[in-house]
Amino acid sequence: MSDGYTVAVVGAGLVGEKIVFELRRRDFPLKELRVLARTARTTTLAGEEFEVGVAEPEAFEGVDFAFFAGTEGEKGAAVQLAQEAISRGAVVIDNGSDFRLDPDVPLVVPEVNADALEGHNGLIANANCSTITMLLPLAPLIRAFGVRRVIVSTYQAVSGSGREGVEALEDGREGVYPRPIAGNAIPLIGGVGDDGYTTEERKMRLESRKILGLPDLEVFATTVRIPVHTGHSESVYVETEREASLDEVVEALRSAPGVTFSGDADDFPTPLEAAGDSGTFVGRVRVEGNAISFWCVADNLLKGAATNAVQIAESLIGVRV
Ligand SMILES: NC(=O)c1ccc[n+]([C@@H]2O[C@H](COP(=O)([O-])OP(=O)(O)OC[C@H]3O[C@@H](n4cnc5c(N)ncnc54)[C@H](OP(=O)(O)O)[C@@H]3O)[C@@H](O)[C@H]2O)c1
Repeated sequence: MSDGYTVAVVGAGLVGEKIVFELRRRDFPLKELRVLARTARTTTLAGEEFEVGVAEPEAFEGVDFAFFAGTEGEKGAAVQLAQEAISRGAVVIDNGSDFRLDPDVPLVVPEVNADALEGHNGLIANANCSTITMLLPLAPLIRAFGVRRVIVSTYQAVSGSGREGVEALEDGREGVYPRPIAGNAIPLIGGVGDDGYTTEERKMRLESRKILGLPDLEVFATTVRIPVHTGHSESVYVETEREASLDEVVEALRSAPGVTFSGDADDFPTPLEAAGDSGTFVGRVRVEGNAISFWCVADNLLKGAATNAVQIAESLIGVRV
């Protein structure tokens, strides 16, 4: 399309702002950029002033791509409005979890399974931020060496809970987390199921299975909220089918798309350095027989949300990923 695409961003929160930022930074071919939320107002996002419109069915007239970054659930933006946007001709890319496991909806991390976009029905789901961060380095290792099981512990930033999470850390806002977050580490993200796993932990298991096309993949996750503003970190242990040497693992990680790998033990990535960068950073790699351990970090609002969403749209229009 020579004169660009009409794009709507639904949600003017932390992720919505980063989608605007990424569309501009990556020079996405835009004809028009609309921002929609619950209430109309003038607001500044990523240094640009917008007349925010109300997210309602008519607001999607003429829209080619609609990025949803509102709330989840029955009354959430995507459940209420995604089909309205699709029926008006838009392709919807949803950051929430409502449709991720729907068999008719591709769940996509472009570096890992861009082929899943083929034959989509107008709705594409962006994966969970912790899942994306883990899969960038993990997928090439699994493809190279096979997999028996994955054990992961996360260290997740408060901006992963949107504006409320940041207010809980910076202003002591109550009711966001089950315990105070300042000076703490809270090993409970989401509700706990009968099996003892939280919703966040289940997302990491079920979304990884779908994205990798490995329906029996064992992923044992423990997800933890820590008092970091932005940047999710993860300690990942993967038991492989075949033994890999350290050199082979390093080679697989060095050539992994979207991964910046550091082989120097002193040069480990941290959330403070990863925040603001759209990449995924890996370090502290150890290999012992069939066991590979590594540390990975990504900005949860960028590669964990906005960057991945914009890359999906780029894949669809055939520009760079
Ligand atoms: N934060 C992360 O790291 C992250 C990562 C991956 C995915 N996600 C997902 O991305 C979505 C947005 O997260 P966030 O962190 O940006 O949240 P946020 O900072 O709390 O912002 C939410 C925004 O969505 C708007 N909104 C809520 N319900 C809406 C509705 N029914 N219709 C239209 N707009 C609505 C709000 O509008 P008003 O401003 O008018 O109230 C607000 O601007 C969530 O589904 C979240 O799970 C977040």
